[in-house]
Amino acid sequence: MSRWTKVIGTGGYLPATIRTNDDISNMVDTSDSWIYERTGIKSRRIAGPDETASSMAEVAARQAIDAAGIAAADIDMIVVATGTPERVYPSTACLLQERLGIKQCVGFDIQAACSGSVYGLSIADQYIKTGFAKNVLVVGSEICSRIVDWSDRSTCILFGDGAGAVLLTGSDEPGILSTHIHSDGGYEDLLYCPNPQVAAAAKQHEPAYISMRGNEVFKVAVNTLGRIVDETLAANGLQQSDIDWLVPHQANTRIIAATAKKLGMSMDQVILTLENQGNTSSASVLLAFNEGVRDGRIQRGQTVLMEAFGAGFTWGSVLLRY
Ligand code: UT7
Repeated sequence: MSRWTKVIGTGGYLPATIRTNDDISNMVDTSDSWIYERTGIKSRRIAGPDETASSMAEVAARQAIDAAGIAAADIDMIVVATGTPERVYPSTACLLQERLGIKQCVGFDIQAACSGSVYGLSIADQYIKTGFAKNVLVVGSEICSRIVDWSDRSTCILFGDGAGAVLLTGSDEPGILSTHIHSDGGYEDLLYCPNPQVAAAAKQHEPAYISMRGNEVFKVAVNTLGRIVDETLAANGLQQSDIDWLVPHQANTRIIAATAKKLGMSMDQVILTLENQGNTSSASVLLAFNEGVRDGRIQRGQTVLMEAFGAGFTWGSVLLRY
């Protein structure tokens, strides 16, 4: 059994097509300035017609495997967080396992909306610490553009496509210090996406798109993320100043700024990707972490706080020594 779970590789993938705020203002009644001021987003990536959650996950996963310097065959568990799987089943994790050519493995998907990667890291940590798994691949992969109503200006400005991956292994050196995950199912009406096939078969003709009461979600998100920061620091006996980097879910710069303020951090200590990625749901935390690691901002030995909030509501944090 390993005392700690350590990050040994990260990866990310963004589709080639860029959709700017100006592009969207040709589709709905909005403007670049409104979107940027209210959200911090300037552009997002849109997956091509041949791309899927598993194809994007594969690119991100291969990068993480290369960075870790292990063979794909050494991975004994794959956890994929996605709200946009190409199949109801097999799971995206099983499709990814096949793409990676791994014969012996455990693979499953999790559904925790935008908190998916934080949930995935928490699950991986439990399995590694109990000795059930040694090398766990956690991926968040989303094609949000396919479940967004491109005639609804209150949601279509926000979301983007992408995949982030992290490879974790058991270690005697400190790695994940704590994870905290929560859900409260009392908020379905504020943020949901129907399953179109199941709804149609049941003759419930709901639009098959993300539906969100953004302003109400915003307020709950700010308060809840403030609480998870307190919970995480208290559980670890740490002060705000002990955190080197905040790697937040990328939903809205104003939400992220509120969490940074709660931590007494400057925005220079926050890995921000949403300006050119938008909200990639379960992929966003791992995409931001990958960016911070690869551009050298996040250094070995530093303390990183990840947090996320999404439909459910679900929310959580991961505190780790990189
Ligand atoms: O990742 C999962 C969790 N999701 C989130 O955390 C998202 C949280 N919510 C948000 O980020 C923000 O609530 C939004 C960016 C979605 C909206 O910003 P807001 O400041 O909360 O705006 P609002 O919904 O209160 O709307 C203000 C006004 C309204 O007009 P009136 O009623 O004041 O005349 C809207 O109709 O802005 C209007 N509006 C827009 N105007 C131009 C809404 N969307 C747009 C738009 N362009 N795209």
